[in-house]
Amino acid sequence: MNNKATININDNTHDIDIITGSEKEVALDISKLRSDANLITLDAGFKNTGSCQSAITFLDGEKGILRYRGYSIEELAEKADFLEVAYLLIFGELPTQDQLNKLSDDIKERAIIDEDLRIILNSFPKSAHPMGILSSLTSGLVAFDPSAVDIDDEEDMYDAILNLLAKIPVLVAWVYRRRKGLPLEYGDTSLGYVENLAKMMFQRPNKEYIQNKTVVSALNKLLILHADHEQNCSTSTVRIVGSSHAGLFASISAGISALWGRLHGGANQAVIEMLEAIDSDGGDTKKYMLKAKDKTDPFRLMGFGHRVYKNFDPRAKIIKVAADEVLKDLGINDPILDIAKGLEKEALEDKYFVDRKLYPNVDFYSGIIYKALDIPAEMFTVMFALGRLPGWVAHWREMRIRKEPIGRPRQVYIGQTHRLFSDIKSR
Ligand code: SDX
Repeated sequence: MNNKATININDNTHDIDIITGSEKEVALDISKLRSDANLITLDAGFKNTGSCQSAITFLDGEKGILRYRGYSIEELAEKADFLEVAYLLIFGELPTQDQLNKLSDDIKERAIIDEDLRIILNSFPKSAHPMGILSSLTSGLVAFDPSAVDIDDEEDMYDAILNLLAKIPVLVAWVYRRRKGLPLEYGDTSLGYVENLAKMMFQRPNKEYIQNKTVVSALNKLLILHADHEQNCSTSTVRIVGSSHAGLFASISAGISALWGRLHGGANQAVIEMLEAIDSDGGDTKKYMLKAKDKTDPFRLMGFGHRVYKNFDPRAKIIKVAADEVLKDLGINDPILDIAKGLEKEALEDKYFVDRKLYPNVDFYSGIIYKALDIPAEMFTVMFALGRLPGWVAHWREMRIRKEPIGRPRQVYIGQTHRLFSDIKSR
């Protein structure tokens, strides 16, 4: 492979460096294009543009491959626990038992939240969307830990990262319980990370909480499957906000807001709302398939399609199997799952979807499991955010350690050229 490309424009020739990644991805390094050739590039939505070089996650959209630090998502979802995967994404290697024990102990040390934050939470109207609350409270954490703003050394960074890994699950549980009108309680430091999350969310104030292995296993798998996905919209947001040297909490709060969008993480809530609408409409999936293909209709088949995957999203395959297992273990028969499977089958045989390589993505089946765990649809994207937290943190840390420049894209100006001010009387 050459390591140079040449462009010829207005009879001038310019060399452009070619770089090749460890998985043989090839890129044109245009970092000198403006200084050498007074040119910029334009790529709405960054469909063809790499923002950085990263060693965290690899995706192959054509082959439906997803790996965290080289480990396949299939192996991690089957064999790892979420805290192990968090360590892997953030620090680059699977932890030894001692390293995992230290991470777990350090998290437990930080898992208490200032009571004033509880007051802020309780000041939100009950109708407030949980993602708006979580984003606000995550940013609000800095009020109780101002040292997390200017992070200049590894020790400060470790402390800020651990504070988030420790406090976000508590905030997720409290946001869930506030919506249910339940008291905001802590869990139990004798429990593992996911077991503790389940207890904080689901314990009833008037009876002993009995762990449900199916619930813990399903949550563990879902959190792992959502943990990272390279330069998606919310992760790119975390990186660009962090590149201004805004603190870690502010950067993650921005990522939560980006994830909320229904074209991104908010799709898991939109999928269930769509499936329930189809169910109450007599289960007529064909009608909704036609709507999805009708360009005059804003309706899209939520949970379908992906910017990178032009094959099955490997996470969707795993979640689909898990949904069957969880509903069977919990003795739940949810007609929504059958509607989802019917839609998938129709879409995979439909020319419109096949031609555009539109397959189910991570959001298509995940809500069916959350619903079976008695998690309301408005909380689905909050669960996605908790899963994605280690991925966001890993990318923020990588960007800061590599001292990447502040993100500041160029543009092509298409507005008015220079003109003189006119007095209001003459307008
Ligand atoms: C996530 O990036 C990530 O990695 C994200 C994520 C992660 O882990 O971080 O994987 C999580 O966000 C998953 C995606 C969740 N969103 C949805 O399920 C919403 C529904 N999907 C679409 O809105 C859409 O597929 C996107 C936003 C996911 C991707 O959009 P693109 O890449 O910009 O593609 P596009 O909008 O240009 O669509 C290409 C064509 C268009 O038709 P034509 O103009 O070519 O005729 O496909 C059509 C679109 O109209 N199309 C759909 C469709 N998705 C795309 N038509 C109907 N239903 C859909 N869902």
